[in-house]
Amino acid sequence: MHDKLPPTNPRQQQSPAPKEPASRRMFLIKLGVLLNGIVALIIGIPIVRYLLGAARSDNDYLKWIDVGNVDDFKDGETTLINYVNPFADPWDGETRKIPAYVRRVSATDFAVFAVNCAHLNCPVRWFAESQLFMCPCHGGIYYADGSRASGPPPRGLFTYETKIEDGKLFIKAGEMPTLSNQAQLIQEIAPCAGTDGFMPG
Ligand code: FES
Repeated sequence: MHDKLPPTNPRQQQSPAPKEPASRRMFLIKLGVLLNGIVALIIGIPIVRYLLGAARSDNDYLKWIDVGNVDDFKDGETTLINYVNPFADPWDGETRKIPAYVRRVSATDFAVFAVNCAHLNCPVRWFAESQLFMCPCHGGIYYADGSRASGPPPRGLFTYETKIEDGKLFIKAGEMPTLSNQAQLIQEIAPCAGTDGFMPG
């Protein structure tokens, strides 16, 4: 028997390149898949949240919020409160707090107004001496019941739905009441002030 002859082709004479261990190659492939998955997740979560957000109805952003004991508000007085937006994120900081004016009309009747002017959204201020809400931006003025008194606002202040349960006042909030989400007109909950408007003594 003859010994095996060396290959005549020089390429065949080269010693074969050392093979990369299969387990190492698999590890790098898995690591690459994992890293790609993490990046896809980081990019995808906000997109999915955005798409799901658009699918929610307006009412999904509304929730009954406890704004204090009924007895904390005095008859005929208007009080500035701050409630925490239930749909805020922890990193929203101080912007989670939303101011509103609570007016106790009678023992069981409350009117709660958004502070935003119905003209261009500047925060209005309540002046107890004159019993008026005044807007510092363009001079819009509202009566104590939130109806428009004068200036550029086309309507009264936006109002929140209210209810009383177990001695506590709740407002339906989470989204600012505006014209775009069918905010209730003040005229629907109280007679429009003017010469015969609500002016508590
Ligand atoms: S924003 Fe209030 S009057 Fe213009």
